[in-house]
Amino acid sequence: MKNIVILISGRGSNMEALIAARDAGTLPVNIAAVISNRPDAAGLATAERAGIPVRALDHKGFAGREAFDAALVECIDAFKPDLVVLAGFMRILTPDFVRHYEGRLLNIHPSLLPAFPGLHTHERALEEGVRIHGCTVHFVTAELDHGPVVIQAAVPVLPDDTEATLAARVLRQEHQIYPQAVRWFAEDRLSIEAGRVRVAGGVQESAALVSPQV
Ligand code: GRF
Repeated sequence: MKNIVILISGRGSNMEALIAARDAGTLPVNIAAVISNRPDAAGLATAERAGIPVRALDHKGFAGREAFDAALVECIDAFKPDLVVLAGFMRILTPDFVRHYEGRLLNIHPSLLPAFPGLHTHERALEEGVRIHGCTVHFVTAELDHGPVVIQAAVPVLPDDTEATLAARVLRQEHQIYPQAVRWFAEDRLSIEAGRVRVAGGVQESAALVSPQV
């Protein structure tokens, strides 16, 4: 079974979705550790309650990004991960970090990339008046919120949406597609060809709002 390490900075609801899928028997991975750059991240307590080893590595205690990322690599690698899962990890990563985990580093972003990289995605989607919004799981590359797309889910933007209602609708989809993407990785079904992700076996074309089909 593959080892995964999950990195968080806050609430950790995507992490919870991964733990729930593991507990339900639909995600065959060993969650080796949950690591946060914020000691007060609510998700750490949740992970601890689930019996998962947790670590807090406060970025404020380091001289710079390079020093922090080097310590983070050491902390992560102690758990020998096959895959590192960024789940609301609110840090820009150094190229060295990204290179070290090339092909085994996933992120979830609350927009249909390449639209709305960066922060405040729901607010910006409302400002732009887009009719369709969503979320993306992608392999991480050196460019922020970029990299080969594994799976996306789209949701409608409704006329009376606020940032909160839209964020909640997107988050429900995040909790579906992240366990799905990690499951595919665990099953060795993901490969990257010419910068695009191929999902091996059994994925059909779909008219539904999740692609590839879950
Ligand atoms: C999610 O919207 C995720 O897409 C983004 O940060 C948020 C984290 O939420 N990267 P949670 O900590 O998983 O609840």
